Amino acid sequence: FSAFLTDSFGRRHSYLRISLTEKCNLRCQYCMPEEGVKLTPRAQLLTTAEVLRLARLFVHEGVDKIRLTGGEPLIRPDVLDIIAELRKLEGLKTIAVTTNGMNLARLLPKLKDSGLDLLNISLDTLIPAKFEFIVRRKGFHKVMEGIDKALEMGYNPVKVNCVVMRGLNEDEILDFVALTEKKPIEVRFIEYMPFDGNKWNFKKMVSYQEMLDCIKQQWPALEMVPTGHADTAKGYKVPGFAGKVGFISSMSDHFCGSCNRLRLTADGNLKVCLFGNSEVSLRDELRSGATETQLLDIIGAAVGRKKKQHAGMLNLSKMKNRPMILIGSATQRS
Ligand code: GTP
Ligand code: 5AD
Ligand code: SF4
Repeated sequence: FSAFLTDSFGRRHSYLRISLTEKCNLRCQYCMPEEGVKLTPRAQLLTTAEVLRLARLFVHEGVDKIRLTGGEPLIRPDVLDIIAELRKLEGLKTIAVTTNGMNLARLLPKLKDSGLDLLNISLDTLIPAKFEFIVRRKGFHKVMEGIDKALEMGYNPVKVNCVVMRGLNEDEILDFVALTEKKPIEVRFIEYMPFDGNKWNFKKMVSYQEMLDCIKQQWPALEMVPTGHADTAKGYKVPGFAGKVGFISSMSDHFCGSCNRLRLTADGNLKVCLFGNSEVSLRDELRSGATETQLLDIIGAAVGRKKKQHAGMLNLSKMKNRPMILIGSATQRS
C-alpha cells in the first residue's frame, strides 16, 4: 500500500470521497445555514477531466473505494460519465454515491448501467410535512420512491441516513426501526454534528447510547451484527426483521482510530479529516502543471499531517470548518 496514503499512525487511506458539486436541490437545516452558502465560481471547481485524473492517481496508490458526494452529486450533469469512467479504473472495487434521493428514481437505471455499486440515501423523517420543514423543500415521496426503486433494482445494502436531532425527529426512531421489519434497508441513525452555520448545540444531539436504550425498550432482543473494520456505523438488527439498523456515533464515540477516508472538495481541496480546516489545493497544483510525482508529494505531506482523532465534540463546535454542504463528506442538501 502506498506510503503517500499512509499516515503517521499507520492508517491506510483506501477510501476517497469526492464532492462533485456544492449545489443542492434541498436545503437541509443541519447541512447549511439558512441564508445559504457562497458558491465557488464555476471556473474554480474541478472539471470532469481533473476529477478523473485525481481519481486515477489515488486508485493507482491503493484507493479501492470512491464515494461521490456533494452538495447533491446527482445534479452534476456529467455524473453518469464520471461513474462510467471510474468504472474503467483497474483496482477500484467500489463506486458509491450518497444522495438525498430526489432524482434517484429517475436516474437509477442509468446509474446502474454506468456501474454504480452502492447507494446511501438521506431521509430524516417519515412525516411529509416534517420533511418539508427539515429540508426546506418538498419531496418526501420522491425520496421514498427512490429508496424502493433502489431495492427493486437489487441494490444491497441500501443505507438510509437519518440525522437525529432532539425536538425534531428523535420521536421517530422507533418508526424508522419498524421500517426495517419489511424493507431490507439499513437505517443508520447519525449523531448530529457541528458544522459552520448549522446551529448545533449539545442539547440537540441525541447520543448513540440514548438511541440504543430507546430502541431496546421496544425491542429488547436487538442484537449487534458484525461490521467492517473501517465502518462508520455500529450495526444492529432486530431478529427476524429484513433490514438492519446502525449508529454513527461520531460525537459520543468516535471511530477515528480506524479511519480510512480522504476527501476531495468540489473546489479541489484535499481534506484529510472531516473536521479540521487543514486543506491543500490539488486543483492549483494540477493547473500549474504538477506531475504525478509532485502531486503525490503534496498528498503525502497532507496525509502525514493528519491528526490522530478529531478535537472532541465541544471543541469542534467552536472550531472553524466548512458547512457540511461545502465539505461533501456528508453529502447533500443545500
Ligand atoms: P459507507 O461507505 O457506507 O460506510 O458510508 P459512510 O457512512 O462513510 O458515508 P455517508 O456519506 O453515508 O455518511 C454517513 C454519515 O457518516 C454522515 O453523517 C457523514 O458525515 C459521516 N461520516 C462519513 N465519513 C466520516 C468520517 O470520516 N468521519 C466521521 N466522523 N464521520 C463521517
Ligand atoms: N450531522 C450529521 N450528519 C450530517 N449530514 C449532513 N449534515 C450532518 C450533520 N450536521 C449527513 C447527511 C448525509 C450524510 C452524508 O451526512 O444526512 O446523509
Ligand atoms: Fe477520520 Fe476525521 Fe472522521 Fe475521525 S473525524 S473518522 S479522523 S475523518
